[in-house]
Amino acid sequence: NTNGLKAGKTRNIIEKIEEAGKNCIIFYGSQTGTAEDYASRLAKEGKSRFGLETMVADLEDYDYDNLDQLPEDKVVFFVLATYGEGEPTDNAVDFYEFITGEDASFSESADPPLGTLKYVTFGLGNNTYEHYNSMVRNVDKALTKLGAHRIGDAGEGDDGAGTMEEDFLAWKEPMWAALAKKMGLEEREAQYEPIFGIVEREGLNKESHEVYLGEPNKMHLEGSARGPFNAHNPYIAPIVESREIFSVKDRNCLHMEVDISGSNLSYQTGDHIAIWPTNAGQEVDYFLDILGLTEKRDTVISVKALEPTAKVPFPTPTTYDAIARYHMEICAPISRQFVATLAAFAPDESSKAEMTKLGQDKDYFHEKVSKYHYNLAGLLRSVGGGQKWNNVPFSAFIEGLTKLQPRYYSISSSSAVQPKKISITAVVESQLIPGRADPFQGVATNYLLALKEKQNGEPNPKPFGLTYEICGPRNKYDGIHVPVHVRHSNFKLPSDPSKPIIMIGPGTGVAPFRGFVQERAKQAEDGETVGKTILFFGCRKRSEDFMYESEWEERKKALGDAFEMPIAFSRDGPKKVYVQHLLKERSKEINELLEKKAYVYVCGDAANMAREVNTMLAQIISEQRGIPEAKAEEIVKNMRASNQYQEDVWS
Ligand code: FAD
Ligand code: 2AM
Repeated sequence: NTNGLKAGKTRNIIEKIEEAGKNCIIFYGSQTGTAEDYASRLAKEGKSRFGLETMVADLEDYDYDNLDQLPEDKVVFFVLATYGEGEPTDNAVDFYEFITGEDASFSESADPPLGTLKYVTFGLGNNTYEHYNSMVRNVDKALTKLGAHRIGDAGEGDDGAGTMEEDFLAWKEPMWAALAKKMGLEEREAQYEPIFGIVEREGLNKESHEVYLGEPNKMHLEGSARGPFNAHNPYIAPIVESREIFSVKDRNCLHMEVDISGSNLSYQTGDHIAIWPTNAGQEVDYFLDILGLTEKRDTVISVKALEPTAKVPFPTPTTYDAIARYHMEICAPISRQFVATLAAFAPDESSKAEMTKLGQDKDYFHEKVSKYHYNLAGLLRSVGGGQKWNNVPFSAFIEGLTKLQPRYYSISSSSAVQPKKISITAVVESQLIPGRADPFQGVATNYLLALKEKQNGEPNPKPFGLTYEICGPRNKYDGIHVPVHVRHSNFKLPSDPSKPIIMIGPGTGVAPFRGFVQERAKQAEDGETVGKTILFFGCRKRSEDFMYESEWEERKKALGDAFEMPIAFSRDGPKKVYVQHLLKERSKEINELLEKKAYVYVCGDAANMAREVNTMLAQIISEQRGIPEAKAEEIVKNMRASNQYQEDVWS
């Protein structure tokens, strides 16, 4: 696997740390960038507070069979996110298989193999999923079994409870104390030391051909982008259709089709498409303004890693504007730890005191920042009374903010029907937050909305100021484009179309089922026998957010009685009706279908709906078969294990 690793770089971690003079490796397994971000923060803190020579390492960049040779004065951290159904993140698959494998073979074959290895773990998970933090738990177990010694508690952060950051902060203090004791480290007054050096490139301007203006890599810069297109190299896909399926005051639902025929991308029904968003122009302006960088926004800079093992997270030379617009999550929640770092560079003493307090006091931070969903610019504006924060070294932002992440969407078309066109169904919400002047808006969804407006020549009601330089100003594209890649998933129709299926997808959860039903309708049209195809859909009101209403009627023509679509309108009647209530009403039939090995698919909200559906299915099985609930739950678990029950859920 050579993703992300430049040719000629070593995959030998021991060689690497020796060459770079390191004694602490912080490996990360990250899907959306949070684990990577925590790894960087630990590396920085380990160095500044304890003088550890830290390095951050992507698990996919190294081999692990020589971990048994790691000298005893070194320590390894594992910061590991759990993804989906208890799976490792893409970059940690090989590591996971190796370390938990029965025959993990190490180079020295000592007994136990990792008897001299010291390690620290922190896991990132979501308790609304059944396999909460299973990645880190299994790795911890495997390491212990191999004889390695954990230092401090195995930390776990819970995204489901919304406490990830606080769990991390609470875990790391006792961990540092334990590590300092074990390794004989002395704590010192932490001083900010930049990891990146910024050099202004006087000879270059933003028109210079070697300056990156949002292009993700050299091929894109040179206008010769080519595959493979993946999480490191997006395809700039033309948007061929973009429309609104419904629009109510605070919510719009978009249907978008992107054309992948110019690429070698392919997809299968049930896969995910990743959209690489751009920050809204207004947010970029606020961000640059509060840092005092407005005048310099187009100044060309090079960013160099001052640490041999640090990676600059975007290509340079580039401009401040391009970094803020295309490469950093400038709108995301801010970590308290980062706020504490920024205190040292506050424009005056009272702002410094305020930032210090925000950094230390979690309840105060919630009251002043989290409650209003403030992003960094919002916070700095409110703390400094509008004074410019131009003392902060720009390196601190590169370190303290996460890389702008692609967002995943469940593909809502069938690859059998339209192999070269991918449909996306996305809900765009604006949240009104009491006490906050403007509505809170998500990054990618509002980007998609702005693209739709641009595509259709509609006035853009929000000052988005979107630019499209991601396609490269030197590259001439016709029409509107969006950078994408495809992620394959295990959410798949049975290969035999005569098998019955039960789909449960309220709201945007219906997305992949539009594709599933399209596919089954095509199979019927092609003369195949198609089994029962039931789609439990739910929305607020028939007149408001009933998605794809006319399409379902078309599919019914092809599928006939095999297709049924019970709908739970939650706000049309006197009391709430949800999909699980409809399941309950049809208990007998559902149980019979399950006994005939019907496949069950659940898509959408992980936090409540998916869990309640799971519970309801167990209840139905228990009642209908006259067996105890515990036994029925066991049956549902087994259905999951055998893929008879599949989930595509998010929170
Ligand atoms: P973001 O800007 O990422 O914000 C998301 C949330 O984070 C906000 O609502 C808020 O709660 C919180 N947040 C962000 N910034 C702050 C802040 N400064 N302070 C406090 N809180 C903050 N969505 C669909 O519409 N359709 C789909 O088919 C679909 N499929 C998916 C499939 C998978 C496998 C996954 C993982 C997700 C899927 N999603 C889908 C969700 C989608 O990926 C995005 O998460 C969603 O569209 C929101 O993205 P955004 O960039 O607009 O919001
Ligand atoms: P509500 O917003 O009226 O409560 C799509 O979002 C649909 O899912 C809406 O009709 C919504 O209803 C409903 N919904 C909300 N919470 C749910 C839950 N826990 N289980 C199933 N459906 C739910």
